[in-house]
Amino acid sequence: MAEPIEQLIAATLDIPISWVNDELEYQSLPQWDSLQHAALMVTIEETYNLKIDPDLTLELTSFPKIKAFIQSLGYLEYPSDRCRAVSLPMAQGTSQDGHAALVPRLRHGTRREISQAQVHRGLEGIIFDRTHISLIEGQTGTLLYRGYSIHDLAQCSTFEETAYLLIHGKLPTTAELRALEHDLRDARCIPGPVTEIILAMRAAHPMDALRTVISALGTFDPERMDNSPEATRRKGLRLMAQVPTAVAMHHALGSSQIPVAPHESLTHAANFLYMLQRVVPSARAARLIDKDLILHAEHGSNASTFAARIAAGTCADIHAAITAAVATFSGPLHGGAVENVIQMIEDIGEPHRAADYVRHRLIRKHPIMGFGHRVYRVEDPRVRYFREAAKELSAELGDPKWYEILETVVREMQAYSRHGIHANVDLYAGLVYHLLGIPHDLSVPVFVVSRVAGWVAHVLEQLENNILIRPLLHYVGEVGASYSPATERETGRWPGNAADLGSERSES
Ligand code: COA
Repeated sequence: MAEPIEQLIAATLDIPISWVNDELEYQSLPQWDSLQHAALMVTIEETYNLKIDPDLTLELTSFPKIKAFIQSLGYLEYPSDRCRAVSLPMAQGTSQDGHAALVPRLRHGTRREISQAQVHRGLEGIIFDRTHISLIEGQTGTLLYRGYSIHDLAQCSTFEETAYLLIHGKLPTTAELRALEHDLRDARCIPGPVTEIILAMRAAHPMDALRTVISALGTFDPERMDNSPEATRRKGLRLMAQVPTAVAMHHALGSSQIPVAPHESLTHAANFLYMLQRVVPSARAARLIDKDLILHAEHGSNASTFAARIAAGTCADIHAAITAAVATFSGPLHGGAVENVIQMIEDIGEPHRAADYVRHRLIRKHPIMGFGHRVYRVEDPRVRYFREAAKELSAELGDPKWYEILETVVREMQAYSRHGIHANVDLYAGLVYHLLGIPHDLSVPVFVVSRVAGWVAHVLEQLENNILIRPLLHYVGEVGASYSPATERETGRWPGNAADLGSERSES
């Protein structure tokens, strides 16, 4: 039987009593937001006839802590006839207003001086929210989408099914999958004005163009004024359908070719290759790209996904959030690494030069592209699929040189694996694209074609239990600087600081 304190919390937060367990924390669910926290504190005060110190309200942020607090007062239970009194409305009242005033500090989670707080550069190791979308375990090399192993999905699923899983949180029925495939095929065309924008940007780098196109697509979306979760999901699906068309169209226009219209019956992966290469791809090529899209579709709170969630957290729309994600993704330390791997292979040129290349870069403290990861301390679980595909395609095409270059680089980097630096997903992906005839400057956009599914899932999850994401910075700059107008600064007539100002004035 539940403890009465559980009833009190359930009634105040208006949640089922079964949810009140040791996992329950402030902001772990939408019902326990900052206002309801204030209500909870008031309820506890009134139920136990006590006054909770403001500092303590900042501490009582989980069910176990509240329970321990109540027990420390000598109450194991509270009188059952008081149960009804706990479902307080958020009425005006001095006590409640007093707690509401604490809300901003509670959101910062600490009242310590920022200068005394530990600085976590790069937010490394910081958990900023909960997620149901994917699990990454860096020590074991585990990656699950919604609980399903990436290996099962890579081997047995399709991109469309995986996208459904990420966005809806469950695998689809046959009918649901058919509906999603139909919706994606139906939404592949790009509105005329956006085509004009793509034409105007045909000489731009494909990632710069894509960032602008995604932003522009938002302004032409039929539901641009509707940011409800349902409309956001539909807009996200339309964007997933339009991104491959935009990438292929920009490539065609940049190569002075007429863009190929989307195919009406091909899958997401096959249609993308078709639009790029202007012929229906072989089943093998289509499956390789399909697998690639599955493997790249989602990867936790990496920089671009974090950027999408920050934008969504301000209640900006999904096109704004995904524009932020694409902008972040384009950097060479993130999605852009795949293009740099291709550059690295070209710079090395021949397998026998690979060892020297690696040594020289490491001596100069330059990173080797395609190695290292913020989370994985063992080999990234996705790498094996790209390595296998690169090896097989190289052999099939009788073109093993690039693969041999990469294998030599891997051998040279072997010593660093003891320090957790292993090949990452970008190392072989670029080679696979090269062998499939995908132009090198499209390596990163191919990644976006896939990752947009994960970004959509994260935007939806952020909105489900939204909070503005707003970390702090520790200011280490100057204080007390004294302003003077530019003319005075240049002539040196104005003193540089307040102390000088005082002395000059007193002398004059
Ligand atoms: N080549 C050489 N040294 C590397 C390296 C690489 N690819 N990746 C990490 N290191 C070094 C770091 O410089 C650091 O050295 P230090 O302790 O002397 O400063 C050490 O290994 C530990 O780094 P770590 O904390 O594991 O990595 P990180 O979180 O700081 O950086 C990346 C992660 C991805 C930014 C980094 O590995 C990198 O720049 N990789 C190359 C780009 C790339 O492939 N990106 C795609 C990622 S999926």
